[in-house]
Amino acid sequence: MTSSRPRISKAVIPAAGLGTRFLPATKATPKEMLPVVDKPAIQYVVEEAVTAGLPDVLMVTGRNKRPLEDHFDRNYELEEVLRSKGDVHKLDRVQESSDLATMHYVRQGDPKGLGHAILCAAPHVGDQPFAVLLGDDLIDPRDPLLTHMVRVQEERGGSVIALMEVEPASIHLYGCAAATPTHTPDVVQVSDLVEKPSPAEAPSNLAIIGRYVLDPGVFEVLRKTEPGRGGEIQITDALQAMAADPTLGGPVHGVVFRGRRYDTGDRGDYLRAIVRLACEREDLGPEFRAWLREYVAGEMAGPLED
Ligand code: UTP
Repeated sequence: MTSSRPRISKAVIPAAGLGTRFLPATKATPKEMLPVVDKPAIQYVVEEAVTAGLPDVLMVTGRNKRPLEDHFDRNYELEEVLRSKGDVHKLDRVQESSDLATMHYVRQGDPKGLGHAILCAAPHVGDQPFAVLLGDDLIDPRDPLLTHMVRVQEERGGSVIALMEVEPASIHLYGCAAATPTHTPDVVQVSDLVEKPSPAEAPSNLAIIGRYVLDPGVFEVLRKTEPGRGGEIQITDALQAMAADPTLGGPVHGVVFRGRRYDTGDRGDYLRAIVRLACEREDLGPEFRAWLREYVAGEMAGPLED
């Protein structure tokens, strides 16, 4: 279906959270800068936005977040050293991140919640639909979730959220959606959203993950959204109002994602992301897999006795 709606071109990446699950590593370093193999987590996220056709990226940052800006800027001194050594490969690696996208930054001030971080993007975004990618949520580059969500938004209008089926026992860690099927197998219509429900209160096992394509009407709703769970302004509460009243910028659809996703703000998931991506790398994979096989075999054989 072709659409007369404006093409989405802007991505917003909230990265102003405190990252307390990763202390002390995140005391002076943003969690988004922690390396996943040899690239900081945030670079995968910006690459994903660019691959989905969104070259204009606004990062919402806060205190201690300077390294994020430096990473996407030129480093002339380092470039000059590499150039003088003729190390073209490393020079390319250094320039990759500064040539990737048109980067913009805004500071959140106090981290008053994800909804508040998104609201900080309002002057930059204007009145066009836009994407939101959480800076600590890594979607495997081979599973083009955001590209699909942009297409769904362009066809259906309103807002689109990413959902993933989780074990009922884990639903209290996420926002949760009540949804009905549409004619498209992985697209659902969202009727209600609950932030971090207990398993008994949860309307489904569909958890909200860190990708959104939002109607700009969300800003007006966020301005009126009172602090919710944890005393923070929650995007889930704003989307719930939009799902209940489509005149506010709805309808709200969900894309059910069945690909590979890692929450790099969680220590276990961060380790899984590194192991998996390292195993699959052409340059590092063969040697690393061989070592891992040996290590796991040793673990299975049980601890060595003295
Ligand atoms: P999290 O819930 O992971 O919170 O935020 P956090 O503070 O970053 O991490 P922990 O739980 O203390 O370890 C989800 C996303 O929303 C952003 C975060 O940077 C992260 O990408 N966020 C959250 C903001 O930008 N501002 C906020 O006020 C809160």
